[in-house]
Amino acid sequence: MKIELSVNGSLHSIESAPGDSLLNALRSEGYYSVKHGCETGECGACAVLIDGRPVNSCVHLAAQAEGHHIQTVEEMGMHPELGWKTNAGLHPLQQAFAESGAIQCGYCTPAMLLASKQLIERNPNPSEAEVREALSGVLCRCTGYVKPVQAILHAAAVMRGEAAPGDMFTPSELERFFIPPTTGDLPPTKDENLSSSGTPAQQVAIQVLPKVLIAPQTETWKSVGRPEVKVDAVKLVQGKPAFAADFERRGLLHAKVLKSPHAHARIKRIDASLARELPGVAAVLTHKDIPRVVYSTAGQSDPIPGPLDMFSLDNKVRFVGDRVAFVAAETPEIAEQALKLIDVEYEVLPAIIDSRQALNPGAVRIHDEPEYVNFAESDPGRNLAAHIHIDIGDVEKGFAEADQIFEFEYSVPKVQQVSIEPHVVITYWDEDDRLVIRTSTQVPFHVRRQMAPVLGLPIKRIRVVKPRIGGGFGGKQEVMIEDVAAHLTIATGRPVIYEYTREEEFIAARSRHPMRVRMKTGVKKDGTITANAMYALSDTGAYGCHALTVAGNTGHKSMALYVGDGAYRLKPNIQFITDVVYTNTPPSGAFRGYGVPQGFWPVERHMERIARALGLDPIEFRLKNALRQGELQPFSTAWSEGREPSPETIMTNGLEECVRQGRAAIGWDQKFGQAAWHEVPGAAHLRKGIGIAMVMQGTAIPYLDMGGASIKMNEDGSFNLLIGATDLGTGSDTVLAQMAAEVLGTSLDNLIVYSSDTDFTPFDKGAYASSTTYISGAAVVNAADKVAERIRSRAAHMLNKRGGGPEVNPGEIHLEDARAMALDGRSVTFAEIGHDSLHHEQQEQIMGVGSYVSPVAPPPFAAQFAEVTVDIETGMVVVDKLVMAVDSGIIVNPLTASGQIEGGMTQALGYAVCEEMLYDGQGRARERGLRDYHIFAAHEMPDLETIFVETFEPSHPFGVKAVAEIPMDGVAPAVGNAILDACGADLAENPATPERVWRAMEDQTSMA
Ligand code: FES
Ligand code: FES
Repeated sequence: MKIELSVNGSLHSIESAPGDSLLNALRSEGYYSVKHGCETGECGACAVLIDGRPVNSCVHLAAQAEGHHIQTVEEMGMHPELGWKTNAGLHPLQQAFAESGAIQCGYCTPAMLLASKQLIERNPNPSEAEVREALSGVLCRCTGYVKPVQAILHAAAVMRGEAAPGDMFTPSELERFFIPPTTGDLPPTKDENLSSSGTPAQQVAIQVLPKVLIAPQTETWKSVGRPEVKVDAVKLVQGKPAFAADFERRGLLHAKVLKSPHAHARIKRIDASLARELPGVAAVLTHKDIPRVVYSTAGQSDPIPGPLDMFSLDNKVRFVGDRVAFVAAETPEIAEQALKLIDVEYEVLPAIIDSRQALNPGAVRIHDEPEYVNFAESDPGRNLAAHIHIDIGDVEKGFAEADQIFEFEYSVPKVQQVSIEPHVVITYWDEDDRLVIRTSTQVPFHVRRQMAPVLGLPIKRIRVVKPRIGGGFGGKQEVMIEDVAAHLTIATGRPVIYEYTREEEFIAARSRHPMRVRMKTGVKKDGTITANAMYALSDTGAYGCHALTVAGNTGHKSMALYVGDGAYRLKPNIQFITDVVYTNTPPSGAFRGYGVPQGFWPVERHMERIARALGLDPIEFRLKNALRQGELQPFSTAWSEGREPSPETIMTNGLEECVRQGRAAIGWDQKFGQAAWHEVPGAAHLRKGIGIAMVMQGTAIPYLDMGGASIKMNEDGSFNLLIGATDLGTGSDTVLAQMAAEVLGTSLDNLIVYSSDTDFTPFDKGAYASSTTYISGAAVVNAADKVAERIRSRAAHMLNKRGGGPEVNPGEIHLEDARAMALDGRSVTFAEIGHDSLHHEQQEQIMGVGSYVSPVAPPPFAAQFAEVTVDIETGMVVVDKLVMAVDSGIIVNPLTASGQIEGGMTQALGYAVCEEMLYDGQGRARERGLRDYHIFAAHEMPDLETIFVETFEPSHPFGVKAVAEIPMDGVAPAVGNAILDACGADLAENPATPERVWRAMEDQTSMA
């Protein structure tokens, strides 16, 4: 039927089926700011205003909107400078979102902008609580909501005339947050700063900027270290078509995948003939139609450190949700219909759902395919995807020397990344018959390499384009859906889109490996750890993606933190053993933190138990045994992601200062051990508690991860920065450009950044292992150094030709403010140099290419604090405050870096208290959408505070380490320890659901 929609004042006459959603109708008309995040009205990414009210367009019929006025972000505002045409520029809300760091991936941003616009229109002076309520329907997985909320408050002040646009961070304000090398005094806390602040801009600055204890090396820097606006912010606040699915291609087919209803079965017979006959179906593919090529979906460098155990389509299914057949059709609805017409006869096999049964003698074998390729000690005959055994020192000797041995078991759950943009890919043949894969991926170059044999194409005939990504969190370090669309494009010759539904994200995508962990620790009476051992049983699900490396990192990071004291510090006794087993559940994979959160829940709960059992201060006990600067990372001698290990010394470690800063910020000394503080006046059923966890992570993978960059100078003195690195919302494009700007002596707006396209940008391993700022950043510096050298040389020549002073040597030229300056003050502008180089004398393209591989992986360190209130009648836990003090090396951009900490802590908060994926005895998922699986919304958030304690890591030109993953590590154990402090519930499992807390309290009572 034909309907007429009024969108942003324009009338659209569109053909719509009776059940068509408004979301699809708007996107088909080119309103790409309206995003798909689910199909059930839960994420809010699809919100639009209908007659001024926010409505989730995915659950609103297009026909229902006829006769109403629809508003999308496209009408809010636009870039203020568009050639000769003048316009009003960005809306104050858009401006504030861009300036405050409220945008990470930007996928939720249009919906947040519309929700806040509607709020301010009806309430020009909203409180923070009212802003949070207004945002409560829009889920954001990146930001932790701190900066969006403050952006809205600031924009409201601007719209009331109480603040000026663009005044969020005045130079004097900035000084409050950047604290010079320590004088011994503690800087003011956030609460003290807030109570002394005045203007709306000051209030916002205090909330969105972290406190940074700066390192002395940064004093003269102009771009690195500053809260620069993200280079992609302006397009994202306008809702421009920047994401993978925001793309038009004539003849686009829609892909769907038939999923297994069984946890383990052989396909005895499959008949797709009826489906193929359905009008509108372009292709149906089963395992009989495509080549059988074994591969791994883990997006890792070559050789992939794990077994090859997967086929695009197989004659066996290994979990409920595994692939059975692919369909491409003219519409998603026809494709769905076709799936129902595929006739499959299964031979159902026994299934392993519980990882503890996988290694049992006689257990059914999940991988019996002859093509299986082993890696290291994988053994499919025993359902073993990977095994690691690391001995550092002699734990048995250490246990013998201990006064007391502590041995406990812990477990951590399977959890989902929940990027708000689901996995999505579009494939098509270009005019040269090369296959273009436009995909939401963290690893475009690995996609190209890994897909080539699967598709029967040489690498040179594949181009992978990575547009903006709506969050990844490791879930898109998987080459998981690209083959589906590509096989269908090969079969039909037509472009194909394949986009996961939210349910597919839960039943078929990857997730965090659940583990069962046994800890055994020997301790002397004075608190010296003499030996520390961990055994981890990790469940990789049906396929071994990231099986070895995730589990390896569990030990490599969490078990490296506590080496012991005195002589043990020089020669620690540590053992780490892991078995990674197959089960008939959806595969696990990479998830931000990459095995380390699984390690720190047991390690930090265990340390708390030991400290309390020995009557030791939990902070002093930890610091006494913690790894220090100048010591060897103990695991560096023993293991390196399946490659040759090489000894690494810890060059920087700000952990002690992090503890000092964090304990002051949360008021540890006024709360811990203070009986009165634990009571809540007037609420006898509530108890307050405070907890700490100390953590460390890694930065990149030594001798393996490589990043590349190229920089080209233009005739106006601007530069194109091309990077293979993958910004998945983290702000890496921006921080890499800041480093280039610093080396080149120019401003960030003179850098035009493009990432990443396998045809045009240099190679980069992709966004994982917290490596982009460090590895790709060093590559950018290398490239910028080469360009700077050419600029100096050319500038010296130009100045000497002009005369008017002594002869100038290139080495004396200083680059600053987009000028090349001689010692005597004479200068040429970059525009003059660029123009001269391309048009006038001895023409050349000034350009530099750089790459970098690191011999080390310097760890960031952090102290995580949590404050909770527990309802002792129900077990309900409310987390009131999280403070994280982090040593991440030099902070390149305090806005983007603190955004990583806030977002990471929020994601980790779910791991702490509510996120968990469970399966019934048949392997069917309990959690299939955002109704069953709760992630935190704006109105539910605790107070978050970030402090950076800078150290200058000498292995990097700007002294950086990693920041993106470490906030995942400490929240759950710090919350667990705070719950213990509050009510005595001593949890071995996370998340801390009311039932678990209540049962743990009951256990304590029965033991007393
Ligand atoms: S609420 Fe509509 S896409 Fe999620
Ligand atoms: S910025 Fe909100 S989902 Fe990424």
